[in-house]
Amino acid sequence: MKKLMAANWKMYKLREEAKLTAEGLVKAVKDSLPQDREVLILPPFTALRSVRKAIKKAPGFALGGQNFFPSMQGAFTGEIAPDMLLDMGCTYALAGHSERRHIMGEADEFVGQKVTFGLERGLSMILCVGETIDERKEGRLEEVVRRQMDTGLAGVPADVAPERLTVAYEPVWAIGTGLTAGPKEIVEAHGLVRSILQDKFGAKALEMRLQYGGSVKPENASEILSLDNVDGVLVGGSSLSAESFSRIVTA
Ligand code: 13P
Repeated sequence: MKKLMAANWKMYKLREEAKLTAEGLVKAVKDSLPQDREVLILPPFTALRSVRKAIKKAPGFALGGQNFFPSMQGAFTGEIAPDMLLDMGCTYALAGHSERRHIMGEADEFVGQKVTFGLERGLSMILCVGETIDERKEGRLEEVVRRQMDTGLAGVPADVAPERLTVAYEPVWAIGTGLTAGPKEIVEAHGLVRSILQDKFGAKALEMRLQYGGSVKPENASEILSLDNVDGVLVGGSSLSAESFSRIVTA
């Protein structure tokens, strides 16, 4: 199973900067990308084309969308369909990122519709889950992650190809704050995610990837990647520069 090293650029970068960053990243890792790593770039929609061009000939690189609306097409002003992402060369998409849950108010059910529909249309899906600081303090980690996964994965067919479903554990309190979950906290949460997947998908759950996200940096990436049940990282801030993300990718 290849580790999935994902760059979530959020709402950053105009086309030219996106192109230069992607080119810089390809150049920096082309001779050093370990065989067991896959690099995924999730740019803003307007930069998909530039990044696609930059990574076109780079083995081990993939393109993804940060979001979509779970419908084929229709009168959904401002939205984008999975087929439009596929048409741009995307093979992956995110659902349930905490910024969409907490800023845009997306509910678990809506996130679940995206996971199901994205898979149906042919995208590989990354379901993001994670607790807020208050939920953690109240001892509700398990309850929250279980609820987000139960609802988020409710429509996923039992025969889903395991490499097409990834769960990213991103504790909300560690996103963009400089605070990283410690090894013990990551191992505990990822063990929980794996066991929920096993309850739902049986042995196949062992072939699904679990990513950690939340203040991953070049300095902590190698330790995080060595932990049990960590099969990749989902990186925000430190993925914006080719220099720092290339160090994470090869950590
Ligand atoms: P940071 O790496 O900036 O904490 O963001 C994490 C994240 O939200 C990735 O999706």
